[in-house]
Amino acid sequence: MPKQPLPPTVYLSAPDMVRLVQRKGLPECIAGVAARIEADFRRWPEFDKSPRLACHSDDGVIELMPIADARQFAFKYVNGHPRNTRDGLPTVMAFGVLADVATGAPRLLSELTLTTAIRTAAMSAVAARQLARRGSRRMALIGNGAQSEFQALAFRDLVGVRELRLFDTDPSATRKLLANLAGQGLAATVCTSVAEAVRGADIVTTVTADKTNATILTPDLIEPGMHLNAVGGDCPGKTELHRGVLERAAVFVEYEPQTRIEGDIQQMPADFEVTEFWQVLSGQRPGRASADQVTVFDSVGFALEDYSALCFMRDAAAELGIGDVIELVLQTDDPKDLFGALRQGQAPGRLDAPAAGAHALELAPAASTAVA
Ligand SMILES: NC(=O)c1ccc[n+]([C@@H]2O[C@H](COP(=O)([O-])OP(=O)(O)OC[C@H]3O[C@@H](n4cnc5c(N)ncnc54)[C@H](O)[C@@H]3O)[C@@H](O)[C@H]2O)c1
Repeated sequence: MPKQPLPPTVYLSAPDMVRLVQRKGLPECIAGVAARIEADFRRWPEFDKSPRLACHSDDGVIELMPIADARQFAFKYVNGHPRNTRDGLPTVMAFGVLADVATGAPRLLSELTLTTAIRTAAMSAVAARQLARRGSRRMALIGNGAQSEFQALAFRDLVGVRELRLFDTDPSATRKLLANLAGQGLAATVCTSVAEAVRGADIVTTVTADKTNATILTPDLIEPGMHLNAVGGDCPGKTELHRGVLERAAVFVEYEPQTRIEGDIQQMPADFEVTEFWQVLSGQRPGRASADQVTVFDSVGFALEDYSALCFMRDAAAELGIGDVIELVLQTDDPKDLFGALRQGQAPGRLDAPAAGAHALELAPAASTAVA
């Protein structure tokens, strides 16, 4: 028997996650993840942070997002392929891991596609709660795809939004959103242009997917006091805001080194002033300066949000008895005898006999050595 058994690794599959969110309730999950995000952002200096690692192609990006504090390490695998939906595949797909820092043992392997939508919406709402004008009720929602309902519900519950102004270049996406949010206490108006959706809004959320330097919002559309929640511009060459919008706004970011590469501010000079959001939360830097100021949350999605979401989902799964314990890593009786694990259940001599091709190749030099 091993001296110390490995601590268990819990596996939360995609169907597990659907069951978890159904049983706990989506609003409770959004609020719970938001509370974790806020608490973790308040202890920002405790985390070992780095910009995510991205592999770009013409079609999209695949990224790894690591982070750790003294106790736990987390990473997320996530892609972004805007053209996927044409083939019936999601734009964003993700899974993630939590591990013990002290030993490196993995403790959770979890789906993160649904969870990414929850944590992104929770993060947006946490930021808007600090940055939007008090009493914000009307939100324009540009881009009505997979993330959009989660954004709408997070802003309803955490910010007090009651009215949505919807626009998507694909009308069927808006029809889907309307059907999904029917009876959810949100009055929704379908608009025929970005300009119509944005007019008179307190908050504008852009959550479009297009691998291009788009200008969804231009300076002429921006009204004093608006808060812009720019979610869809999240990798190099993929932006949503005209640079003139950024020039006239106070811009807040998650983790500056990553957002300089991926966010809408990639269009701006390296010394363009931004504030990391954790500084606002912890009272070190001001948030909104006046009711007339335009604020931008240039969201790209940072690893800490996934850390917070993974911790929330792990605890919720334990509470509800959801998930399976899996043997993700091998444990041997003698930790230095990894090879020995391969002998278990094998007939003597069978394991280390050379493969057929290798045998033939090895015999020739051995024979010639013997002759010499
Ligand atoms: N910041 C973050 O943390 C974060 C997290 C998740 C996803 N995202 C990004 O959010 C975006 C949306 O993700 P999704 O999963 O909802 O994608 P999706 O493909 O399901 O939906 C995107 C929608 O945008 C619409 N659209 C594209 N161009 C538009 C335009 N010019 N005007 C109006 N609508 C337009 C599309 O028709 C589609 O309905 C993606 O770019 C994704 O990379 C960011």
